This record gives sequence, structure tokens and C-alpha cells, in this order.
Amino acid sequence: MATKPKQLATGDRTIPPPDAKMIPIYIMGKEYMVPETITIMKAIEYAGYKYIRGCGCRGGICGACATFYRFIGDYRLRTGLACQTVVEPDMIIVQLPFFPANRPSYTLDNIEGDLHAELRRLYPEVFKCVGCGTCTRTCPMDIDVMDYVALMKRGDLKGAALKSFDCVMCGLCASRCPAQISQFTAAMFVRRLYGKYILPKAEHLKKRVEEVKSGRYERMLEELRDKSVEELKKLYTEREREPDLSEPGKWLPDDKEHL
Ligand code: SF4
Ligand code: SF4
Ligand code: FES
Repeated sequence: MATKPKQLATGDRTIPPPDAKMIPIYIMGKEYMVPETITIMKAIEYAGYKYIRGCGCRGGICGACATFYRFIGDYRLRTGLACQTVVEPDMIIVQLPFFPANRPSYTLDNIEGDLHAELRRLYPEVFKCVGCGTCTRTCPMDIDVMDYVALMKRGDLKGAALKSFDCVMCGLCASRCPAQISQFTAAMFVRRLYGKYILPKAEHLKKRVEEVKSGRYERMLEELRDKSVEELKKLYTEREREPDLSEPGKWLPDDKEHL
């Protein structure tokens, strides 16, 4: 191991307490001392790097911060989201902000007939799954990826759409698949099929879209556009809000003028 490296203090997001324990990590092959208990994302910034890509929501939602790491002395390659994974000593880290997955072109409106046949045509590799389970072990969202791939193979598109619903599109599953399957883009396609062709149309949504198209809200929007920033802030602060624990679909505001 290298001699003890200098502590950097160029990051702008983390100011560790004076007695914080510093641990060594390796970012793209270079050693840095960073405070323990912070996330990989904060540690990378603390070390002086500035994110241009590979960072979005900072809350485990956008999937932009896929990260590979392993520990010195351990052959196992590990994966996680940089904004969710806490640094540990001797972590060797590299980020994967984009994975070049198979993204065939299609027009959802033009798909006719057998939806499963269309999945087979666009994503034939899905049907080569060998059932190794690497994708499921890799997924930072704890999704049973292998299972939704099996549902896709079987033609249970509804099951695959629901099972993959929490996917954040980080691409880590595809990056490790020995059959070179783009599980997450295939699952996105299946969710689109499910939303467009399988799920019953929501009548209330249709009604509301018609109301919007009829210009019902134009006057209200014009009134808002004419207001000053201060008036808008006041309106926002004083707006009626649905209570957190209200029963779904039951709450209505006192002011029903715009319903
Ligand atoms: S299914 Fe794949 S792309 Fe989606 S969150 Fe899991 S590992 Fe990431
Ligand atoms: S990693 Fe690939 S081959 Fe292995 S179970 Fe997942 S989809 Fe199938
Ligand atoms: S920054 Fe969005 S999931 Fe990590």
C-alpha cells in the first residue's frame, strides 16, 4: 500500500467534524482520504471531483450513478448506486454513468397484433437468458430481475411490467449479464406496452384531458401569469393541501371552483 496520502479538502458538499475518522478509498485508481460514513457520491466530491454526468437525484431514484467497486484483497466485484452506498476503507471505485444497452427503435402507436411477438422481434436476446441470477444479485433496487425476464419469456407482460416497476434504469443488470441481455430497456418496452395496450384506460384521466383541451383552465392560467412573484409565493404558501393521511381519492378542497 502507498504511504499515507494527503488529506484533500476541496469538496464543497461535506464538511466533516474535526474528529471525523478518515479512511482511504481509490477513485479511478488514485488514493484519497475521505471521512467515513459518507456516500460514495459525497466522497468523490470531497476528493475534489465535480460531477458533470453520473449524478442526478441524489436520492436513489434517477439511476444515473451506477458504480462498480471492490475491496483491496477481495476478488469480488460489487455494484451499487453512488448516492446510496456508504464508503468503506480500501474501496476501489469507478462509476458507470451510462451503459450502452440495446435500445431498438419502435413507435409504440404502430404496434399491432401480437405484443409478445413484438418483444421477440425487438429484443430476441431476452430469450437467451440462462437463469444465472447475476442480474438479480446486482440490482441495487432489490428487483428480482431474473424473474421479470422469465415472465417476459413466458409472455406474461403484465407480470413483467409490474415486477420491473421500481427499475431506475441504472443498467447494472445488463452490464453483468453473460447472455448480453438489456433487461432494463426490454422491461421499459414491456411497461410501455402494458400502459398502452393492456391496462384499461382511466376514464377520469380521459375526462380531464378533454377538459384541458376544451380550454377550461385557460382563464385560471392567465390569472396566474398576471400575478407578481410575491403574489404567487403567497398563493403557494396558503394553498389548500391534501392531508398526508387522508384516504386515497376521498379528499376534496373547500374551493371547488377549478375542479
Ligand atoms: S433492473 Fe437493472 S437497470 Fe433496473 S434498477 Fe435493477 S439493475 Fe438497475
Ligand atoms: S444475468 Fe442475464 S442470463 Fe443471468 S439470469 Fe439475468 S438475464 Fe438471465
Ligand atoms: S443520483 Fe439518482 S440514483 Fe443516485
